[in-house]
Amino acid sequence: MSTYDTLRAELQAAPRAWLVTGAAGFIGSHLVETLLSLNQTVVGLDNFATGHRHNLVAATAGQTAERQARFRFIEGDIRDAATCRSACEGVQHVLHQAALGSVPRSLADPLTTNAANIDGFLNMLVAARDAGVQRFVYAASSSTYGDHPGLPKVEDRIGKPLSPYAVTKYVNELYAEVFGRCYGTASIGLRYFNVFGPRQDPNGAYAAVIPKWAAQMLRGEAIRINGDGETSRDFCYIANTVQANLLAATVTTPEALNQVYNVAVGDQTSLNQLYTELAAALGAQRPGLQVAPAVYGDFRAGDVRHSRADIGKAQTLLGYAPTHRFGQGLQAAASWYAAQSAT
Ligand SMILES: NC(=O)c1ccc[n+]([C@@H]2O[C@H](COP(=O)([O-])OP(=O)(O)OC[C@H]3O[C@@H](n4cnc5c(N)ncnc54)[C@H](O)[C@@H]3O)[C@@H](O)[C@H]2O)c1
Repeated sequence: MSTYDTLRAELQAAPRAWLVTGAAGFIGSHLVETLLSLNQTVVGLDNFATGHRHNLVAATAGQTAERQARFRFIEGDIRDAATCRSACEGVQHVLHQAALGSVPRSLADPLTTNAANIDGFLNMLVAARDAGVQRFVYAASSSTYGDHPGLPKVEDRIGKPLSPYAVTKYVNELYAEVFGRCYGTASIGLRYFNVFGPRQDPNGAYAAVIPKWAAQMLRGEAIRINGDGETSRDFCYIANTVQANLLAATVTTPEALNQVYNVAVGDQTSLNQLYTELAAALGAQRPGLQVAPAVYGDFRAGDVRHSRADIGKAQTLLGYAPTHRFGQGLQAAASWYAAQSAT
């Protein structure tokens, strides 16, 4: 039995109270769904800046009425300290996901990204501290590796940030560490590496590459690849990310706390490989699908060139064991992409 299997059994036997910020977003809605399926009590907080009500519906619709009754949603903004305070009331574990993602968005509008990702983060951290929550888990980012050339990425070797977004995510880590030292707040930061899966928004200027390309391929549109296509990422299926959050929220060994962890798989996939594998996965869903050849453009400002995680720290200290390699995740997500494009 894996550490995660044991944990799920323990949570079902003795349910706890959780706050998920960014609950209407991609990752947050999966956290809500998994927690409810384990009979937990869950508060969700979101202002719908980039999240959607339909994600909340999808996360709760398949649950029993009893489980649905254990979910309470607050429409509110983490930039408001009072909202954060009331959301933390009576909560044992905070999974803080709310933020404005996307490197290009932060380049276009650094002030708004800063307000949500730093002011909002600090509001949440203060509220969690004052409410005496047991654990504050937060979404950090692989963008913190910045210009450090080392591969694989190891937690204690970071470079200089390449975008305002990366600055905000690094500042989160600094605040969490200082709150641990000064106030004893127990936190864990999870450096996500390009998470993907159902419910990730394919639309808008700041959409992530996999859902955006999937939607374009299914519409028969040409894919634009930024740069030469050899830019690489450690794409991580959502189930792995959910697992890491639950493990981080509940781990009790002191050396595991007030740390940051890479959350990925350890697979390095280039954009050219992604194009080929995604086309194949979608072709299996839609026999006869004609995928247009890729069009190559300029490199995108602020992008890290290569990314691959060393996940040893999370494996050792959290008992993290990813269930989906990149290809398995792509297979699991492909049917959702196809179903979405059919509606
Ligand atoms: N998806 C990835 O690959 C990835 C990689 C690294 C880090 N992250 C981080 O993971 C977290 C979740 O990302 P996601 O991919 O689910 O994105 P998402 O945009 O789907 O979810 C973020 C959610 O936060 C909400 N939000 C934004 N500003 C808010 C505010 N001021 N008050 C309340 N709610 C607010 C949005 O409405 C949205 O529902 C973010 O912190 C993001 O920076 C994601």
